[in-house]
Amino acid sequence: MDYLSIALGDSSTYRGSTGIVPPPPVEESAIAGFAAPFRVGPPLIATSRIVDPDAADRLIADGVADAVGMTRALITDPDLPRKAADGRAEDVLRCIGCNVCIAHYHAAIPIACAQNPRTGRELTWAPVRAARQRVAVVGGGPAGMAAAACRFAMLRRHARPAPIPPSPSGQGPRTGDVWAHPRERRPGVGTAVG
Ligand SMILES: Cc1cc2nc3c(=O)[nH]c(=O)nc-3n(C[C@H](O)[C@H](O)[C@H](O)COP(=O)(O)O)c2cc1C
Ligand code: SF4
Repeated sequence: MDYLSIALGDSSTYRGSTGIVPPPPVEESAIAGFAAPFRVGPPLIATSRIVDPDAADRLIADGVADAVGMTRALITDPDLPRKAADGRAEDVLRCIGCNVCIAHYHAAIPIACAQNPRTGRELTWAPVRAARQRVAVVGGGPAGMAAAACRFAMLRRHARPAPIPPSPSGQGPRTGDVWAHPRERRPGVGTAVG
């Protein structure tokens, strides 16, 4: 045997099959708790809700597995390995385990990702442009902040710094402040109200 590859779930029952693509509340890297009995000699590959490059490194460093498999994490962000290798793990678009992708798969339609609108449209969407543009995203909820910060603007180098004015009342958080991940607050992403 060249290697052993393990994942959560099983195909013997419908309930078991849902475990093959574990959604929350199954914890990220939960496979770690089940790997030890499979340390029987051949190199071990562990898969299932491993979405974070640092967590993947830790699993290997801790001897849980010799390698990890990432399916949905790479559907969300095919550039994950390159970003991790470049020390840009914070730029990784992160799979949230919502299983929109597998729902499309089971419906026999092209897969899509709730986190990455390019997924499934790679051949039809225009390639990323190198020219800098100003992009305004109207709406400061989770989707708007995500789109403004990295999904479209930052990662395509279209954003440019904009001043962040105080909230209208001068106190209390703005929507963007409530929802913005630190990634969405980095230089180059500005928010405005009014
Ligand atoms: C869209 C999609 C299609 C899949 N197709 C298969 C398949 O054909 N055969 C298979 O053994 N596993 C398939 N899987 C399961 C993955 O190989 C993997 O075990 C599972 O997604 C858990 O890993 P992850 O948490 O890294 O996504 C599929 C998963 C997804 C999301
Ligand atoms: S749709 Fe995207 S975010 Fe949701 S589970 Fe699939 S790959 Fe992950």
